[in-house]
Amino acid sequence: MKKIAILNGPNLDRLGVREPKIYGKATLSDLEKEIRAEFGEGTYLEFFQSNHEGALIDKIGDLAEGKFDGLVLNAGAFTHTSVALRDALSGSGLRAVEVHISNVYSREEFRHKSLTAPVCAAVISGLGFQGYHAAVRFLLQS
Ligand code: DQA
Repeated sequence: MKKIAILNGPNLDRLGVREPKIYGKATLSDLEKEIRAEFGEGTYLEFFQSNHEGALIDKIGDLAEGKFDGLVLNAGAFTHTSVALRDALSGSGLRAVEVHISNVYSREEFRHKSLTAPVCAAVISGLGFQGYHAAVRFLLQS
């Protein structure tokens, strides 16, 4: 059975209440339900969210040890700031797709730079939750 992890970083636990005009009204548990409904049969799916950089780094290390087939990563603001997260990703050997709910390129300039994108297989930005679906599909099929 293939194993895919979906990691969400800081403030994404507040989806549904946090800036709904940008991120929508659906919650993180709605996302998990949607993804499990589409891919849960025949795929082991692991969901993890943390507001803490170190916890995300520890989790990436654990996933690498656990021989996961792919990682969907929305690192939130750490995308734009964290060398440590990028190092964890590139050192993990995991195939990752970076996802952003919003189109970061239509927003503030500090969101245009991603430190993690260069060590990911692909980046999806601006498709809302559909981006997570597309990322899981890609990781399972390729
Ligand atoms: C985000 C975009 C980031 O710039 C922001 O810091 C987030 C969410 C997105 O999903 O659109 O927290 O990753």
